[in-house]
Amino acid sequence: MKHDISAIETVLKTRLSQLPVPRDILKAAELKELYASMKAMAPDERPVFGKQINLLRNHLEAAIGELEASGATGAIKELDVTAPFEVNATAPPRLLTSEEGSRHPLSAEREKVAEIFARMGFTEYTSRELDDDYHMFGALNFPEGHPARDVYDTFITEDGLIAPAHTSTMQNRILRAFEPPIRAVIIDRTFRNEDVDARHEHTFNQIEGVYVDKNINVGHLLATLKAFLESYYETNIEFRIQPFYFPFVEPGFEFALSCPFCRKKGCHICSYQGWIELLGCGMIHPNVLREGGIDPALYSGFAWGVGLDRLVMMKHDIEDIRHFQSGKLDFLRQFS
Ligand code: FA5
Repeated sequence: MKHDISAIETVLKTRLSQLPVPRDILKAAELKELYASMKAMAPDERPVFGKQINLLRNHLEAAIGELEASGATGAIKELDVTAPFEVNATAPPRLLTSEEGSRHPLSAEREKVAEIFARMGFTEYTSRELDDDYHMFGALNFPEGHPARDVYDTFITEDGLIAPAHTSTMQNRILRAFEPPIRAVIIDRTFRNEDVDARHEHTFNQIEGVYVDKNINVGHLLATLKAFLESYYETNIEFRIQPFYFPFVEPGFEFALSCPFCRKKGCHICSYQGWIELLGCGMIHPNVLREGGIDPALYSGFAWGVGLDRLVMMKHDIEDIRHFQSGKLDFLRQFS
């Protein structure tokens, strides 16, 4: 079968100017057919024909190069004006395959945290994005009108619902849903009407722990937190506690850990203190147990609440909490 190579070149060049990606012309069926037809040729005809095809290819390559340089590619150009990178560019390729998306650092670390607690026998639950006054405050022993409610700068809807300011909003549901022994972690988003700065976000994540059984004491609480933190930071830590008031625990503590990065020598992560105040915790108040349908004469338990964002900031030396929700690719690429 005879091929009119110059006619094929004309056809392909016309089609080339219509393609959104000009280089795709090199995959045209006509070209494939030309190569395939060589197999049927006599051995002495092949090199001559092969040279003609190569010449055609060279012409096409040159035309592709011109089109790409001029930017006038494609009859219809699809523009994505919302893209955070130059998807509309034709050359060079917009993103390397290896760069196309990665997990957000908070999602990846959330999973690691959940895995550690799963190994320690805790079951994971999520919270909710709207809750009521009873679960956010009433069931947690905050009396009506008590100033402790003001500590949580809550967002409230016109219907009086609350965007939970802490994952403790789930405590009552956990206590009511299960018989002791209870071992639960709640990892989810929380919302506060904060003055946002490098350490405070309006939307952040908390990890809440709830543990209830017979004869549970402060020692169990501290050992649990120590074991978790040593596993998460992959190093030994020391801790210290000081009394702190939360209406839903008695006694309540603020828990500080020795800086896992400088081992108390002082570094920028611990503000050269050697210690980092990390979380709130304590023994679940008898009123909270009772409200959850659990007899405080038979059972006791502990709870804690810690910011996931703060844990991750320390681990990866992130200086500003606002990076997490900034959508900045430069920041996110560091974790891909
Ligand atoms: C509470 O929210 C209590 N519910 C914790 C608790 C639970 C105490 C169970 C006792 C028993 P606090 O307001 O301190 O406590 O917040 C707990 C942690 O959330 C803080 O230590 C911090 O790590 C994180 N956090 C609080 N506010 C913010 C914020 N605006 N941005 C980022 N992280 C925050």
